[in-house]
Amino acid sequence: MRLDDKVTIITGGGSGMGKTAAELFAREGARVVVSDVSEAAGESVVASVKAAGGQATFIRADVSKEDDARGMVQHAIATFGRVDALYNNAGIMPEADHSVIDTDVDTWDKVMAVNVRGVFLGCKYAIPQMLEQGSGSIINIASFVAILGCSVPQDAYTASKGAVLALTRSLAVQFAGRGVRTNAISPGPIETPLLMDWLLKDEAAKALRLNRNPSGRFGKPEEIVSVGVYLASDESRWTNGANFVIDGGITVNYF
Ligand SMILES: NC(=O)c1ccc[n+]([C@@H]2O[C@H](COP(=O)([O-])OP(=O)(O)OC[C@H]3O[C@@H](n4cnc5c(N)ncnc54)[C@H](O)[C@@H]3O)[C@@H](O)[C@H]2O)c1
Repeated sequence: MRLDDKVTIITGGGSGMGKTAAELFAREGARVVVSDVSEAAGESVVASVKAAGGQATFIRADVSKEDDARGMVQHAIATFGRVDALYNNAGIMPEADHSVIDTDVDTWDKVMAVNVRGVFLGCKYAIPQMLEQGSGSIINIASFVAILGCSVPQDAYTASKGAVLALTRSLAVQFAGRGVRTNAISPGPIETPLLMDWLLKDEAAKALRLNRNPSGRFGKPEEIVSVGVYLASDESRWTNGANFVIDGGITVNYF
């Protein structure tokens, strides 16, 4: 299998693409640490992975909190003995996040705390373990909005994902010489609760997004996670500092 025994921490593993990552990584032989702020969601993913014959454990962690991030990595080491991959997937996109001129500071700070500080803290505690092992793969989930302007703005979210890409490059340069690779995936709009709970309420917003997409549809979680499997596996041993834009062709579409 492609991820035989690799210990992978998946943040935000209780829903959407994180849930799919837990399931597909485990199917490829990984030992999966599902982490989420929601205990019920995370535990249910662990139960479904185990029911399918996979290995998984749950640890409740709010990625924006330093003690939780430290505990998440310690739990992975205590349970499975090492950390081969960190899939930094937890993220939020609140409705109150709009243009800079009408977004309140609390919303801005909350988005930055989860989407940027969360990635920082996961890396802060996982990378030293990976350096000790001499190997590891950091996989940061950004977004296509990090590289595009949008006339329906979510400025805090956009800025947060831009920061994730910048941090990815910096880590890729710092640690590759010691065996730790860092890459990003920038998904386009994917059918998960994060996007659909919001878009389904607004047919015009949904149509606008579909019109811009040459593929004519939203992506599915497994169409992103399959790139994650590659990045966690040894097949990607020379892949470092890359940003995989997987968006059905939105970002290459002029008209
Ligand atoms: N769905 C999309 O269209 C899309 C597109 C581009 C990028 N992304 C990114 O992909 C990632 C996953 O998104 P999704 O669509 O699967 O979302 P989702 O809302 O379905 O799942 C996110 C999970 O993260 C958890 N979470 C939220 N805050 C957390 C915190 N502070 N600490 C730990 N866990 C927390 C939630 O409980 C949830 O289980 C996010 O980083 C998102 O920004 C999503």
